Amino acid sequence: MHECVLRHQRHVDAGRDHDDDCDHKKRQNVHRNILALDYAAPVAADPALAVEVSGLERSYRSGTGVFRRRGTQIQALRGITFSIEQGELFGLLGPNGAGKTTTIKVLTTLLLPSTGTARVLGFDVAREPREVRRRIGYVFGGERGLYDRLSALENLRYFADLYRVPPRGQRARIDELLELVGLRGRERERVETYSRGMKQRLHIARGLLHDPPVLFLDEPTLGLDPVGARDLRRTVAGLQEAGKTILLTTHYMFEADELCRRIAVIADGRIVATGTPADLKSRIADRTIVEIEAFGASDAMIQRLRTVAGVDSVSVELREQAQVILVQSSRGAELVQPLLRELEDARIGKVVPRPPTLEDVYVDLVGSA
Ligand SMILES: Nc1ncnc2c1ncn2[C@@H]1O[C@H](COP(=O)(O)OP(=O)(O)OP(=O)(O)O)[C@@H](O)[C@H]1O
Ligand SMILES: [Mg+2]
Repeated sequence: MHECVLRHQRHVDAGRDHDDDCDHKKRQNVHRNILALDYAAPVAADPALAVEVSGLERSYRSGTGVFRRRGTQIQALRGITFSIEQGELFGLLGPNGAGKTTTIKVLTTLLLPSTGTARVLGFDVAREPREVRRRIGYVFGGERGLYDRLSALENLRYFADLYRVPPRGQRARIDELLELVGLRGRERERVETYSRGMKQRLHIARGLLHDPPVLFLDEPTLGLDPVGARDLRRTVAGLQEAGKTILLTTHYMFEADELCRRIAVIADGRIVATGTPADLKSRIADRTIVEIEAFGASDAMIQRLRTVAGVDSVSVELREQAQVILVQSSRGAELVQPLLRELEDARIGKVVPRPPTLEDVYVDLVGSA
C-alpha cells in the first residue's frame, strides 16, 4: 500500500493526527471537509422531497489584473427553482457554462448560495451542512482524487476508513459495491492501469461507500466511449432501482431521455423548462422537422428559408463536409418543395421529414434562452 497511507493508518491506530504535508494529506482534508461524517449518528428527518431548490442565485467574483485587481461578477445562477422526489432520477441538462456544476456544488455544500435556499432531505445546505453531507454522495465528471498506485480495493478501504464506515461491515460493503459497478475480479489491479470508464465506476463506488440515500453525478459519462458510457448508464439506472435519489447532469439529451424520469433544462443560469421527457417532447409534438443535407448553402439562402410560410425555426449544423439544415414547422412534408426552391443553387443530399426528437426540443429551448 502507498507509504503515506500506511503512515496515516499507523497514526490513526496510535490515536495521533497525521500531520504530514503530503499530497494525500491535502486530498484527505478535502474529502474530510466534504464528508464530515458521523456514521453512527441517527438520521432524523423523513420529508417527502429529497431535494428542494428555491430561488437559488449564485455569483462568482473573479479578479483581473495583477496590481490593481478589478472585480467582475459572474452570475452563474439567476434564481432557479426545482425539486426532486425521493427515489427519483432527475436530469439537469444544459450547455457549457449553464450552471449545472454550480448547482451541484451548492447542493453538496461546497459553495454557499448568494440568495435563495436549497435543502437536501429537509436539511438546509447553508445552515445544516453536516446533516446534508452525511446523506449525500457525489461524483464529479473527470474527477481526480483516486490513488493511482493503489489497487481499487486499497482505495476503497482507505476511503471507507475516511468516511467512517464501521470496520466490521467494511469488507462486505466493498464487495457489494465492486459487484454493483462491475469491477469485481479487477479490484486487485492498480488504478493507474484502469481505463477511464473503470476509474469512473470506481469513483461511483467511492461515492457510495457510506450508503448515502442521495447521489449527485456531474457528467458521469464524460470522456467515455459509447460502450463505456452505456455500461455506466446501466449502473446509474441500477442505483435508482436500488432506491437512490439521483441528480445527474449531462450535455446529452438522449442520455437524459433514456435515464431520467424528469428533466430540467438550464441555460445561462435559468431553468427554461422542466418535465418528463414526454412532456418536453409534446411541446413540439405537433411540429415536423425537415432535415436537409446541403453543400454550399449561403447565409442568404438560410435566411430565406426562415421566411417560408409555416417555418418556425431554422438551425444549421456542420457534419463533416455537409451542412445539415434543420427546419422546424407546423406544416408537414408538403413544406419540402418550397424549402428546396429556396436552396436551388446549393447541392442537396438527403432530405428527410421526421417527427421531433428530444434533441430538437433541447436545441429549441437552449437556442431561445
Ligand atoms: N470558480 C469560478 N470562478 C468564476 N466563475 C466561475 C467559476 N466556476 C464557474 N464559473 C462560471 O459560472 C458559470 C456556470 O458555470 P458551471 O461550471 O456551473 O457551468 P456548467 O453548466 O457546469 O458547465 P459545463 O457544462 O461546461 O460543465 C460559467 O459562466 C462559469 O464561467
Ligand atoms: Mg459542469
